[in-house]
Amino acid sequence: MGQLIDRRVPTIDLPVVNLGPYLTDPGSSAALAECEKAWKAMANFGVSVVRDPRAELRHRARFLQLMQCFGAATPELQEDCRRDQTGMAIGWWPPGRETARHWPEVVEGLTEENRPFTAGFDRPPPDRKGRWHHRLWLPEWERNMADGLLATLKGEQIAPPGEQFEGWIEANDLWGRTLLSANITHAEMVALGAGVERDYFTAGIINGGTSLLAPTIVDMSKLNEWELIAGFHYDFDRFAMHGKANFGGLIVWTRDGRRVRIRVPGNCFLCQAGAEAEYMTGGAIWKGFHEVVALPREIEVARTIRSAGGSPIRVGSHCFSQGRSDVMQPHPKWRTEQTLAAYPPILASDRQAYEIRLITGQA
Ligand SMILES: [Fe+2]
Repeated sequence: MGQLIDRRVPTIDLPVVNLGPYLTDPGSSAALAECEKAWKAMANFGVSVVRDPRAELRHRARFLQLMQCFGAATPELQEDCRRDQTGMAIGWWPPGRETARHWPEVVEGLTEENRPFTAGFDRPPPDRKGRWHHRLWLPEWERNMADGLLATLKGEQIAPPGEQFEGWIEANDLWGRTLLSANITHAEMVALGAGVERDYFTAGIINGGTSLLAPTIVDMSKLNEWELIAGFHYDFDRFAMHGKANFGGLIVWTRDGRRVRIRVPGNCFLCQAGAEAEYMTGGAIWKGFHEVVALPREIEVARTIRSAGGSPIRVGSHCFSQGRSDVMQPHPKWRTEQTLAAYPPILASDRQAYEIRLITGQA
């Protein structure tokens, strides 16, 4: 199976979307140029590279260290952090809990050199990564929440037990809010770049939607070369803002079917469009497929780090934002008989529940 991807995956550069001009003066021509860039990246690639001058990258270090510590903890401690009854909202999902769906019709449409690793399997194997879930919101949303709702949400947060995890919730909040702020601002810019209302994508996220910091965790030193960390899939949220992982391995597909890696400068994030963004634009935005594999070079680096006493655990930091109580359908700008047939009105939470059942094998 390895020979299917034992070829070079080209690395491409995308224009960096700078949130700075929009944050300073959203009506300026510099801001509008960035909005246009954000929209084009989402429409053409389903991904964009984002620089947020507000981001304090120092918050990433503590977050990364805590996640690596959790990744190295005993299976018993990790199991204690499962909260399966909350759906995909809180705590730990062990490796193997998620399995990418099979996409023969998509894979068949790709040329052979652009096929995913998953193409070598009759059915994709379960993912090797585990995932933590930490619910997020921004301080300004918190101020607007009713006391009862806030207490309920805050009461649901959990942290692993033990001194080594001290400050867990605060570290998750700090890094998660960094990604969430970027995600919301970038989504506003995408909307303006597309020529629709600024809050078209974000109103449903802020008012009753959910945002999660959902980092993925996998020990690279235990993987074989080309082993699948996360199978070929798309995300089912509205938009996801990703902090740069501490090991490479992310491969994405562009709308025109090219399999590439995207260069993300150290001070930038990668934003990916999810199924909700595609739904709300009648397909004008494309939900990008992607997969994560253990690249031989990254395995080598992990083993070197481990022999030097460091942690070989890969942590991907992902902030997913989605609606919940809003009804999604194509905006009038993209509403036609065809788009409505393909994307009929649906409650955001119903669509998410359906997707979760599919990836956890409960459908
Ligand atoms: Fe994903």
